[in-house]
Amino acid sequence: MSERRVAWGVIGSGGIALRRTIPEGIVPAENARLMAVYDVNQDVNREVAQRFGAFAAGSLAELLAAEVEAVYVASPVFAHREQVTACARAGKHVLCEKPLGRTVAEAEEMVRACRDAGVLLGTGFMMRFHAQHRAALTLVREGRLGRPVYARAQLSCWYPPVEGAWRQDPALGGGGSLMDMGGHCLDLLEMFFGRVQRVSCFTSRAVHAYAVEDGATVMLEFANGALGTVDVFFSIPDEASDNVLELYGSQGSILARGTIGQGSAGFMRARLRGAEAGYDAQQRRESAGGIEIAPEPVNIYRAEIEEFSRAVLEGREPPVSGEDGLRNQRLLAACYESAQTGKTVEVGS
Ligand SMILES: NC(=O)c1ccc[n+]([C@@H]2O[C@H](COP(=O)([O-])OP(=O)(O)OC[C@H]3O[C@@H](n4cnc5c(N)ncnc54)[C@H](O)[C@@H]3O)[C@@H](O)[C@H]2O)c1
Repeated sequence: MSERRVAWGVIGSGGIALRRTIPEGIVPAENARLMAVYDVNQDVNREVAQRFGAFAAGSLAELLAAEVEAVYVASPVFAHREQVTACARAGKHVLCEKPLGRTVAEAEEMVRACRDAGVLLGTGFMMRFHAQHRAALTLVREGRLGRPVYARAQLSCWYPPVEGAWRQDPALGGGGSLMDMGGHCLDLLEMFFGRVQRVSCFTSRAVHAYAVEDGATVMLEFANGALGTVDVFFSIPDEASDNVLELYGSQGSILARGTIGQGSAGFMRARLRGAEAGYDAQQRRESAGGIEIAPEPVNIYRAEIEEFSRAVLEGREPPVSGEDGLRNQRLLAACYESAQTGKTVEVGS
């Protein structure tokens, strides 16, 4: 029997929602349907509504009055707190884009509002659903990597100054490349290696003349003793970066290029001591040594929407929760504190 479809509303329909999450996620999802959209830009909103056969709400209140069960909040970061708490008060489940607000306090308020209202809150770390990341996670959890030793996540792009861009104003976006892209990297590394307990961070304004950082590097110490680094830059041309993910353990490594980002496939290779013989069909032997990890790609936006819809239908916690978004804010706050003070900072739990 096919699943019932959750009726979705979207806030901030004209950005990533239009570029990715509506066409790749909500529309093709087997258990979702797009019911209503809202954007402060009413022209764009009407176009999105028309293109995808949804109701164009003229205000947030109008969207919340529609019979949507779940709302995808894809507005700029400065609007998350107010909109997520409004959704909660209206009894709607919420999937909020990352980062969950600008600060720990905003994330805490959103988590509390949703808990008090008895609605689900999810955070948009869709890279967790990447098929190659899932395969790597299985290897790590099975102990094939041995003891976790070192992990690196990189995400860079070219993002020059743009007049009025909310991401370039710390008061609106909460930070620069670290807040915008570093959150994904930190979230992935905690997925693979568990909790980070201490961070040491540098931020830079080396290339672009805007108020937020255009680059950051973070050194991490995980609770299990492993080490890690995250490097995120708005000042490296897109084509110049492989956006690598590297996981090393006492039994080998899993190395990927291009799996971090908005796409659904990259290149991933595992070199695991003694583990290559008889490994399962989704992986191919490579002449250069190691095995290529190439499971059937899964669209990460579709997986994100289907998983959240399933959580709504089954009344269970979403796979990437509001607590995960709050945890990420605590990590980011520790990184910014370290960059500001020049000291290593313990991450609160
Ligand atoms: N997961 C991903 O792949 C991914 C990618 C990009 C952005 N994001 C996140 O999505 C969010 C939006 O980023 P973006 O790149 O789409 O931004 P954007 O500026 O490209 O688009 C934001 C949209 O929201 C609208 N908007 C602005 N203020 C609003 C308000 N108060 N209420 C309703 N709509 C409003 C704008 O008109 C615009 O259509 C951010 O949290 C960002 O971090 C996630």
